[in-house]
Amino acid sequence: MKLQKPQTLILPPAGDYGEGRMMPHIVESIREDHVRVLHLLDILEQTGEGREERYATVKHELQGHMHGEEATLYRRMERVMQDEIEQSVRDHTGFREIFGRLDRMPPDRDAWLVHLRELQRRVWEHIEHEETVLEEALSVMDTPELYEMGDYFQQAKRAMIQMASGRHP
Ligand SMILES: [Fe+2]
Ligand SMILES: [Fe+2]
Repeated sequence: MKLQKPQTLILPPAGDYGEGRMMPHIVESIREDHVRVLHLLDILEQTGEGREERYATVKHELQGHMHGEEATLYRRMERVMQDEIEQSVRDHTGFREIFGRLDRMPPDRDAWLVHLRELQRRVWEHIEHEETVLEEALSVMDTPELYEMGDYFQQAKRAMIQMASGRHP
């Protein structure tokens, strides 16, 4: 069965967030990340060359994204939708476990690709599910909070990416 990618992601053109705004708020940032991560996973799955480097990029992106969400969106929304957030955290834990398996295996092995496809499928499903959290976030947060949370999200994400990739600011 061919997997269907989430249909729910609708994005404005890059750098245009309406009303002349150049900065995204938290929901816009997260949706942009989702599109980017799905794209990076697609390329990684389809391209044999440079797989190790591509894998490191996807992993760091996703690690940063998950940490950013847990430190901001999830913390804020667990008061509002506890079950959904608990499920989302379990999904993140599952991704980290798959990264652990991928890390221990040479990327040119067939088994590596099997795990990668499993990750890809679960990330698609997670992103679809997360849309309900994002929609709810848009209704419970006012505009200043969406932007403030957007800043925190970017900071937390950057800090994690720097740590995960061994880069320092
Ligand atoms: Fe997530
Ligand atoms: Fe996400």
